[in-house]
Amino acid sequence: MTNEIIIAPSILAANFARLGEEIAAIDAAGADWIHCDVMDGHFVPNISFGADVIKAIRPSTSKTFDVHLMITPVDCYLEAFAKAGADIITVHAEAGPHLDRSLQAIRALGKKAGVSLCPATPEAAIEYVLDRVDLILVMTVNPGFGGQSFLGSQLEKIRRIRAMIGDRPIRLEVDGGVTRDNAAVVAAAGADTLVAGSAVFRGNGSADYANNIAAIRVAAESGRVPKLQYGSASPVRTSESELVR
Ligand code: DX5
Ligand code: ZN
Repeated sequence: MTNEIIIAPSILAANFARLGEEIAAIDAAGADWIHCDVMDGHFVPNISFGADVIKAIRPSTSKTFDVHLMITPVDCYLEAFAKAGADIITVHAEAGPHLDRSLQAIRALGKKAGVSLCPATPEAAIEYVLDRVDLILVMTVNPGFGGQSFLGSQLEKIRRIRAMIGDRPIRLEVDGGVTRDNAAVVAAAGADTLVAGSAVFRGNGSADYANNIAAIRVAAESGRVPKLQYGSASPVRTSESELVR
């Protein structure tokens, strides 16, 4: 069964001076989930926001809060993010020595559990926790900042993780440098959930955000449809090099 495409704008790229309004704007613009990038200045070289901000923005939308914890240690903060209103809590496989325990703790809090891999981390790192997760997040930039370029090296990892998932009810999310120009090749590789920050929060308000979200969604859907070449009996796929900037 193929999951429908989910677009999850990252609020790291929003105007922090008007965060509640920005979230209401992407909600109205068609965002499926709200991706919340939590950074501690230790696991990643940047500091963003914590559980109190998640709690403050929770009333701004009823959409799913997809909380990406780029922090270490992480176990001691899970309950705070769960209470603040997170729906999905994703931890990094690299954040500590006891990933299986962290994922069990997230589910014990009644939340969906996600695991994220930095670009240098092989998919083997999650081989023994597939039955502990509802989401696998592949980083296609080195985490810490929005506006970076997509790392094409991660497409093979996405393909391999799609194969590992098999028919398990797990979403495959991609995060970092995703745009309307590479969303097709990302979806073709097997991703069904696309995070985008700078590619969504450009322009001025909800109408522009809606166009940006729709363009990424249409591109991702196009990547899932085999391309029929004129006169060809079998579908062919667009070459990846044409799509990844
Ligand atoms: C980076 C964050 C990403 C980032 C995406 O560490 O995890 O979610 O904000 O932003 P763009 O889409 O601008 O690369
Ligand atoms: Zn993220």
